[in-house]
Amino acid sequence: MKSLRPVRIAGLSTYVPPRVLTNGDLEKLVDTSDEWILQRTGIRERHVVDPGIATSDLALEAAVGAVAQAGLTPADIEFIVVGTTTPDTIFPSTACVLQEKLGASRAWGFDLGAACSGFTYALTVGAQMIATGAHDHVLVVGADTMSSIIDYTDRTTCILFGDGAGAAVLSPAGEDDPAIMDFAHEIDGSGGPSLCMPAGGSRLPASHETIDTRMHYVKQDGQAVFKFAVRKTEEISRRVLDRNGLKPADLDLFVSHQANRRIISAAAERLGLPESKVIINLERFGNTTGATIPLALGTAVADGKLKRGDLVLLASVGAGFTVGAVLLRWGF
Ligand code: UT7
Repeated sequence: MKSLRPVRIAGLSTYVPPRVLTNGDLEKLVDTSDEWILQRTGIRERHVVDPGIATSDLALEAAVGAVAQAGLTPADIEFIVVGTTTPDTIFPSTACVLQEKLGASRAWGFDLGAACSGFTYALTVGAQMIATGAHDHVLVVGADTMSSIIDYTDRTTCILFGDGAGAAVLSPAGEDDPAIMDFAHEIDGSGGPSLCMPAGGSRLPASHETIDTRMHYVKQDGQAVFKFAVRKTEEISRRVLDRNGLKPADLDLFVSHQANRRIISAAAERLGLPESKVIINLERFGNTTGATIPLALGTAVADGKLKRGDLVLLASVGAGFTVGAVLLRWGF
Protein backbone atom coordinates (compact mmCIF):
# COMPACT_ATOMS: atom_id res chain seq x y z
CA MET A 1 0.00 0.00 0.00
CA LYS A 2 1.59 3.28 -1.07
CA SER A 3 0.34 5.15 1.96
CA LEU A 4 0.28 8.91 1.64
CA ARG A 5 -0.17 9.05 5.38
CA PRO A 6 0.50 6.08 7.68
CA VAL A 7 -2.56 4.71 9.47
CA ARG A 8 -2.71 2.82 12.76
CA ILE A 9 -5.29 0.89 14.73
CA ALA A 10 -5.79 3.15 17.76
CA GLY A 11 -8.59 1.25 19.51
CA LEU A 12 -10.32 -2.14 19.37
CA SER A 13 -13.35 -3.48 21.17
CA THR A 14 -15.70 -6.41 20.73
CA TYR A 15 -19.09 -7.56 21.91
CA VAL A 16 -21.13 -10.75 21.88
CA PRO A 17 -24.69 -11.01 23.16
CA PRO A 18 -25.03 -12.79 26.53
CA ARG A 19 -27.16 -15.76 25.41
CA VAL A 20 -25.11 -18.90 24.66
CA LEU A 21 -26.20 -21.65 22.25
CA THR A 22 -24.20 -24.81 22.99
CA ASN A 23 -23.69 -27.90 20.88
CA GLY A 24 -25.93 -29.64 23.42
CA ASP A 25 -28.71 -27.13 22.67
CA LEU A 26 -28.34 -27.87 18.94
CA GLU A 27 -28.59 -31.62 19.61
CA LYS A 28 -32.17 -30.89 20.67
CA LEU A 29 -32.95 -29.03 17.43
CA VAL A 30 -31.33 -31.18 14.71
CA ASP A 31 -29.81 -34.62 14.23
CA THR A 32 -26.26 -33.83 15.32
CA SER A 33 -23.89 -34.41 18.23
CA ASP A 34 -21.49 -32.39 20.32
CA GLU A 35 -18.76 -34.81 19.24
CA TRP A 36 -19.42 -34.37 15.49
CA ILE A 37 -19.53 -30.58 15.72
CA LEU A 38 -16.37 -30.37 17.81
CA GLN A 39 -14.46 -32.81 15.62
CA ARG A 40 -15.52 -31.39 12.24
CA THR A 41 -15.51 -27.68 13.13
CA GLY A 42 -13.84 -27.03 16.51
CA ILE A 43 -16.92 -25.15 17.76
CA ARG A 44 -18.39 -25.79 21.23
CA GLU A 45 -20.74 -22.83 21.60
CA ARG A 46 -21.79 -19.59 20.00
CA HIS A 47 -23.61 -16.48 21.22
CA VAL A 48 -26.99 -15.50 19.80
CA VAL A 49 -29.20 -12.46 20.29
CA ASP A 50 -32.53 -12.34 22.04
CA PRO A 51 -35.51 -11.36 19.89
CA GLY A 52 -35.53 -7.67 18.98
CA ILE A 53 -31.74 -7.22 19.07
CA ALA A 54 -30.18 -6.27 15.74
CA THR A 55 -26.71 -5.83 14.26
CA SER A 56 -26.49 -2.11 15.11
CA ASP A 57 -27.09 -2.95 18.80
CA LEU A 58 -24.08 -5.29 18.80
CA ALA A 59 -22.03 -2.82 16.76
CA LEU A 60 -22.82 0.00 19.17
CA GLU A 61 -21.46 -1.90 22.17
CA ALA A 62 -18.21 -2.58 20.33
CA ALA A 63 -17.96 0.94 18.88
CA VAL A 64 -18.33 2.68 22.25
CA GLY A 65 -15.39 0.67 23.62
CA ALA A 66 -13.17 1.21 20.59
CA VAL A 67 -13.73 4.98 20.52
CA ALA A 68 -12.95 5.24 24.25
CA GLN A 69 -9.82 3.12 23.91
CA ALA A 70 -8.56 5.41 21.15
CA GLY A 71 -8.94 8.31 23.59
CA LEU A 72 -11.58 9.93 21.40
CA THR A 73 -15.25 10.85 21.63
CA PRO A 74 -17.90 9.90 19.06
CA ALA A 75 -17.84 13.45 17.72
CA ASP A 76 -14.22 12.88 16.58
CA ILE A 77 -15.27 10.11 14.20
CA GLU A 78 -15.58 11.35 10.61
CA PHE A 79 -16.32 8.14 8.72
CA ILE A 80 -18.01 4.84 9.61
CA VAL A 81 -17.88 1.66 7.56
CA VAL A 82 -19.81 -1.39 8.72
CA GLY A 83 -18.94 -4.75 7.19
CA THR A 84 -22.10 -6.79 7.60
CA THR A 85 -24.21 -9.40 5.86
CA THR A 86 -27.10 -8.97 8.27
CA PRO A 87 -27.91 -5.25 8.36
CA ASP A 88 -30.79 -4.16 10.63
CA THR A 89 -32.73 -3.42 7.43
CA ILE A 90 -31.84 -3.34 3.71
CA PHE A 91 -32.16 0.41 4.12
CA PRO A 92 -31.35 2.59 5.92
CA SER A 93 -27.84 1.22 6.29
CA THR A 94 -26.58 -0.04 9.64
CA ALA A 95 -23.85 2.64 9.42
CA CYS A 96 -26.61 5.30 9.53
CA VAL A 97 -28.34 3.62 12.47
CA LEU A 98 -25.02 3.28 14.30
CA GLN A 99 -24.02 6.90 13.59
CA GLU A 100 -27.18 8.10 15.29
CA LYS A 101 -27.02 5.71 18.26
CA LEU A 102 -23.33 6.44 18.86
CA GLY A 103 -23.79 10.19 18.54
CA ALA A 104 -21.09 10.39 15.87
CA SER A 105 -22.64 13.62 14.70
CA ARG A 106 -19.92 14.54 12.17
CA ALA A 107 -19.57 11.12 10.53
CA TRP A 108 -20.73 9.89 7.17
CA GLY A 109 -20.48 6.27 6.10
CA PHE A 110 -22.02 3.17 4.64
CA ASP A 111 -22.34 -0.61 4.91
CA LEU A 112 -19.99 -2.88 3.06
CA GLY A 113 -21.14 -6.29 1.79
CA ALA A 114 -18.29 -8.78 1.69
CA ALA A 115 -19.65 -11.52 3.98
CA CYS A 116 -16.83 -13.10 5.98
CA SER A 117 -14.33 -10.65 4.48
CA GLY A 118 -16.40 -7.76 5.81
CA PHE A 119 -13.84 -6.68 8.39
CA THR A 120 -10.73 -6.98 6.22
CA TYR A 121 -12.44 -5.06 3.38
CA ALA A 122 -13.82 -2.42 5.77
CA LEU A 123 -10.38 -1.99 7.34
CA THR A 124 -8.87 -1.37 3.93
CA VAL A 125 -11.59 1.12 2.93
CA GLY A 126 -11.37 2.94 6.27
CA ALA A 127 -7.58 3.14 6.08
CA GLN A 128 -7.75 4.80 2.65
CA MET A 129 -9.87 7.60 4.07
CA ILE A 130 -7.01 8.48 6.41
CA ALA A 131 -4.14 7.67 4.04
CA THR A 132 -5.49 10.12 1.47
CA GLY A 133 -5.88 12.82 4.10
CA ALA A 134 -9.65 12.94 3.67
CA HIS A 135 -10.31 12.13 7.34
CA ASP A 136 -8.45 11.77 10.62
CA HIS A 137 -10.50 9.32 12.67
CA VAL A 138 -12.44 6.42 11.22
CA LEU A 139 -14.62 3.71 12.79
CA VAL A 140 -14.39 0.28 11.17
CA VAL A 141 -16.95 -2.29 12.25
CA GLY A 142 -17.49 -5.98 11.50
CA ALA A 143 -20.83 -7.10 12.92
CA ASP A 144 -23.36 -9.80 12.19
CA THR A 145 -26.52 -11.27 13.61
CA MET A 146 -26.23 -14.56 11.77
CA SER A 147 -28.95 -16.16 13.89
CA SER A 148 -31.44 -13.99 11.94
CA ILE A 149 -30.68 -15.82 8.67
CA ILE A 150 -29.83 -19.32 9.92
CA ASP A 151 -32.17 -22.25 9.36
CA TYR A 152 -32.26 -24.07 12.70
CA THR A 153 -33.65 -27.15 10.91
CA ASP A 154 -30.55 -27.46 8.67
CA ARG A 155 -27.80 -29.29 10.53
CA THR A 156 -25.19 -28.52 7.88
CA THR A 157 -25.29 -24.77 8.57
CA CYS A 158 -26.92 -24.08 11.95
CA ILE A 159 -24.02 -25.56 13.89
CA LEU A 160 -21.53 -23.12 12.40
CA PHE A 161 -22.71 -19.58 12.99
CA GLY A 162 -23.03 -17.13 15.87
CA ASP A 163 -23.66 -13.43 16.50
CA GLY A 164 -21.11 -10.76 17.44
CA ALA A 165 -19.44 -7.46 16.66
CA GLY A 166 -15.99 -5.92 16.62
CA ALA A 167 -14.93 -2.32 16.08
CA ALA A 168 -11.60 -0.67 15.42
CA VAL A 169 -10.78 3.03 15.43
CA LEU A 170 -8.19 4.09 12.88
CA SER A 171 -6.13 7.25 13.27
CA PRO A 172 -3.09 8.79 11.56
CA ALA A 173 0.23 7.27 12.68
CA GLY A 174 3.54 9.06 13.11
CA GLU A 175 6.27 8.22 10.57
CA ASP A 176 7.93 5.72 12.95
CA ASP A 177 4.77 4.37 14.57
CA PRO A 178 3.46 0.87 13.93
CA ALA A 179 1.00 1.11 11.03
CA ILE A 180 -1.08 -0.77 8.50
CA MET A 181 1.43 -1.88 5.86
CA ASP A 182 -0.40 -3.47 2.95
CA PHE A 183 -3.54 -5.22 1.81
CA ALA A 184 -4.59 -7.64 -0.92
CA HIS A 185 -8.15 -8.44 -1.88
CA GLU A 186 -9.84 -10.56 -4.52
CA ILE A 187 -13.32 -11.56 -5.51
CA ASP A 188 -14.38 -14.62 -7.50
CA GLY A 189 -18.04 -14.35 -8.41
CA SER A 190 -18.12 -17.87 -9.84
CA GLY A 191 -18.30 -19.07 -6.23
CA GLY A 192 -21.59 -17.28 -5.57
CA PRO A 193 -23.90 -20.30 -5.54
CA SER A 194 -21.67 -22.13 -3.04
CA LEU A 195 -22.66 -19.83 -0.18
CA CYS A 196 -25.66 -17.55 -0.40
CA MET A 197 -29.09 -16.49 0.83
CA PRO A 198 -31.25 -16.96 -2.27
CA ALA A 199 -34.25 -14.73 -1.49
CA GLY A 200 -35.02 -11.33 -0.04
CA GLY A 201 -33.15 -9.29 -2.64
CA SER A 202 -34.32 -7.98 -6.02
CA ARG A 203 -33.84 -11.37 -7.72
CA LEU A 204 -36.34 -13.16 -5.49
CA PRO A 205 -38.29 -10.69 -3.37
CA ALA A 206 -40.04 -12.05 -0.30
CA SER A 207 -43.18 -14.00 -1.13
CA HIS A 208 -45.19 -16.80 0.42
CA GLU A 209 -43.31 -19.16 -1.86
CA THR A 210 -39.84 -17.97 -0.82
CA ILE A 211 -40.83 -18.39 2.80
CA ASP A 212 -42.43 -21.80 2.29
CA THR A 213 -39.28 -23.02 0.52
CA ARG A 214 -36.97 -21.58 3.23
CA MET A 215 -35.11 -19.32 0.80
CA HIS A 216 -34.40 -16.60 3.37
CA TYR A 217 -31.73 -18.68 5.05
CA VAL A 218 -28.03 -19.37 4.44
CA LYS A 219 -27.43 -22.15 1.91
CA GLN A 220 -23.97 -23.64 1.63
CA ASP A 221 -21.96 -26.24 -0.25
CA GLY A 222 -19.65 -26.82 2.70
CA GLN A 223 -16.97 -28.84 0.94
CA ALA A 224 -16.62 -26.37 -1.96
CA VAL A 225 -16.22 -23.48 0.49
CA PHE A 226 -13.81 -25.47 2.64
CA LYS A 227 -11.43 -26.26 -0.24
CA PHE A 228 -11.52 -22.73 -1.60
CA ALA A 229 -10.91 -21.26 1.85
CA VAL A 230 -7.83 -23.37 2.60
CA ARG A 231 -6.27 -22.69 -0.82
CA LYS A 232 -7.01 -18.97 -0.87
CA THR A 233 -6.05 -18.27 2.73
CA GLU A 234 -2.57 -19.57 1.99
CA GLU A 235 -2.35 -17.90 -1.43
CA ILE A 236 -3.40 -14.39 -0.36
CA SER A 237 -1.22 -14.58 2.74
CA ARG A 238 1.87 -15.51 0.73
CA ARG A 239 1.16 -12.81 -1.85
CA VAL A 240 1.01 -9.97 0.66
CA LEU A 241 4.03 -11.26 2.59
CA ASP A 242 6.15 -11.85 -0.54
CA ARG A 243 5.67 -8.40 -1.92
CA ASN A 244 6.79 -6.91 1.40
CA GLY A 245 9.93 -9.04 1.44
CA LEU A 246 8.60 -11.06 4.40
CA LYS A 247 8.23 -14.74 5.17
CA PRO A 248 5.52 -16.43 7.27
CA ALA A 249 8.20 -16.98 9.93
CA ASP A 250 8.52 -13.19 10.31
CA LEU A 251 4.92 -12.96 11.58
CA ASP A 252 4.22 -12.56 15.27
CA LEU A 253 0.55 -13.43 14.81
CA PHE A 254 -1.71 -14.89 12.12
CA VAL A 255 -5.36 -13.94 12.55
CA SER A 256 -7.57 -15.76 10.10
CA HIS A 257 -11.33 -15.63 9.67
CA GLN A 258 -12.83 -18.17 12.09
CA ALA A 259 -15.05 -20.54 10.10
CA ASN A 260 -13.68 -23.98 10.90
CA ARG A 261 -10.70 -25.02 13.03
CA ARG A 262 -9.64 -27.43 10.27
CA ILE A 263 -9.52 -24.62 7.66
CA ILE A 264 -7.34 -22.42 9.89
CA SER A 265 -5.04 -25.27 10.89
CA ALA A 266 -4.62 -26.48 7.29
CA ALA A 267 -3.82 -22.97 6.04
CA ALA A 268 -1.43 -22.33 8.94
CA GLU A 269 0.30 -25.66 8.32
CA ARG A 270 0.76 -24.86 4.63
CA LEU A 271 2.29 -21.54 5.66
CA GLY A 272 4.57 -23.35 8.11
CA LEU A 273 3.22 -21.39 11.08
CA PRO A 274 3.45 -22.88 14.57
CA GLU A 275 0.20 -23.09 16.60
CA SER A 276 1.57 -20.50 19.04
CA LYS A 277 1.33 -17.81 16.33
CA VAL A 278 -2.22 -18.67 15.26
CA ILE A 279 -5.31 -17.35 17.02
CA ILE A 280 -8.25 -19.77 17.18
CA ASN A 281 -11.21 -18.72 19.30
CA LEU A 282 -14.12 -20.15 17.32
CA GLU A 283 -14.62 -22.77 20.02
CA ARG A 284 -16.48 -20.06 21.99
CA PHE A 285 -18.02 -17.96 19.23
CA GLY A 286 -18.52 -20.06 16.08
CA ASN A 287 -18.43 -18.21 12.78
CA THR A 288 -19.65 -14.65 13.39
CA THR A 289 -18.99 -13.65 9.75
CA GLY A 290 -17.88 -9.97 9.76
CA ALA A 291 -16.98 -10.09 13.45
CA THR A 292 -14.57 -13.05 13.58
CA ILE A 293 -11.33 -11.17 12.94
CA PRO A 294 -11.87 -8.38 15.51
CA LEU A 295 -13.09 -11.01 17.99
CA ALA A 296 -9.90 -12.99 17.37
CA LEU A 297 -7.79 -9.84 17.77
CA GLY A 298 -9.67 -9.18 21.02
CA THR A 299 -8.80 -12.67 22.24
CA ALA A 300 -5.15 -12.12 21.30
CA VAL A 301 -5.04 -8.87 23.28
CA ALA A 302 -6.78 -10.48 26.28
CA ASP A 303 -4.35 -13.43 26.20
CA GLY A 304 -1.33 -11.09 26.10
CA LYS A 305 -0.38 -12.34 22.61
CA LEU A 306 -0.43 -8.95 20.94
CA LYS A 307 1.79 -6.01 21.76
CA ARG A 308 2.60 -2.72 20.09
CA GLY A 309 4.78 -3.22 17.03
CA ASP A 310 3.95 -6.91 16.48
CA LEU A 311 3.74 -8.01 12.85
CA VAL A 312 0.21 -9.30 12.24
CA LEU A 313 -1.43 -10.80 9.17
CA LEU A 314 -5.22 -10.83 8.92
CA ALA A 315 -6.77 -13.16 6.32
CA SER A 316 -10.33 -13.87 5.29
CA VAL A 317 -12.36 -15.89 2.79
CA GLY A 318 -16.10 -15.56 2.51
CA ALA A 319 -19.23 -15.73 0.39
CA GLY A 320 -18.94 -14.16 -3.03
CA PHE A 321 -16.29 -15.51 -3.00
CA THR A 322 -14.39 -12.71 -1.27
CA VAL A 323 -10.76 -13.01 -0.23
CA GLY A 324 -8.76 -10.56 1.83
CA ALA A 325 -5.50 -10.02 3.68
CA VAL A 326 -4.24 -7.05 5.66
CA LEU A 327 -0.65 -6.82 6.90
CA LEU A 328 0.02 -4.49 9.80
CA ARG A 329 2.09 -3.66 12.82
CA TRP A 330 -0.08 -3.60 15.90
CA GLY A 331 -0.72 -0.02 16.92
CA PHE A 332 -1.16 0.08 20.70
O1 UT7 B 1 -17.02 -18.33 6.40
C1 UT7 B 1 -17.11 -19.14 5.29
C2 UT7 B 1 -18.28 -19.95 5.55
N1 UT7 B 1 -18.22 -21.33 5.70
C3 UT7 B 1 -17.18 -22.15 5.81
O2 UT7 B 1 -16.03 -21.83 5.77
C4 UT7 B 1 -17.55 -23.58 5.97
C5 UT7 B 1 -16.71 -24.50 5.15
N2 UT7 B 1 -17.11 -25.88 5.27
C6 UT7 B 1 -17.04 -26.57 6.44
O3 UT7 B 1 -16.65 -26.05 7.46
C7 UT7 B 1 -17.39 -28.03 6.40
O4 UT7 B 1 -17.55 -28.44 5.06
C8 UT7 B 1 -18.68 -28.39 7.21
C9 UT7 B 1 -18.40 -28.24 8.69
C10 UT7 B 1 -19.83 -27.50 6.79
C11 UT7 B 1 -19.04 -29.84 6.95
O5 UT7 B 1 -17.96 -30.69 7.31
P1 UT7 B 1 -17.46 -31.80 6.32
O6 UT7 B 1 -16.36 -32.49 6.97
O7 UT7 B 1 -17.16 -31.15 4.98
O8 UT7 B 1 -18.71 -32.76 6.24
P2 UT7 B 1 -19.51 -33.24 4.96
O9 UT7 B 1 -20.33 -32.14 4.40
O10 UT7 B 1 -18.58 -33.97 4.05
O11 UT7 B 1 -20.48 -34.29 5.61
C12 UT7 B 1 -19.98 -35.51 6.21
C13 UT7 B 1 -21.14 -36.25 6.81
C14 UT7 B 1 -22.36 -36.34 5.90
O12 UT7 B 1 -22.96 -37.61 6.12
P3 UT7 B 1 -22.72 -38.82 5.10
O13 UT7 B 1 -23.20 -38.33 3.78
O14 UT7 B 1 -21.26 -39.09 5.15
O15 UT7 B 1 -23.56 -39.92 5.71
C15 UT7 B 1 -23.28 -35.28 6.43
O16 UT7 B 1 -24.62 -35.54 6.17
O17 UT7 B 1 -21.57 -35.57 7.98
C16 UT7 B 1 -22.98 -35.33 7.90
N3 UT7 B 1 -23.28 -34.08 8.59
C17 UT7 B 1 -23.53 -34.04 9.92
N4 UT7 B 1 -23.59 -34.99 10.86
C18 UT7 B 1 -23.85 -34.60 12.13
C19 UT7 B 1 -23.35 -32.82 8.08
N5 UT7 B 1 -23.62 -31.95 9.07
C20 UT7 B 1 -23.75 -32.69 10.21
C21 UT7 B 1 -24.03 -32.34 11.54
N6 UT7 B 1 -24.06 -33.34 12.46
N7 UT7 B 1 -24.25 -31.07 11.92
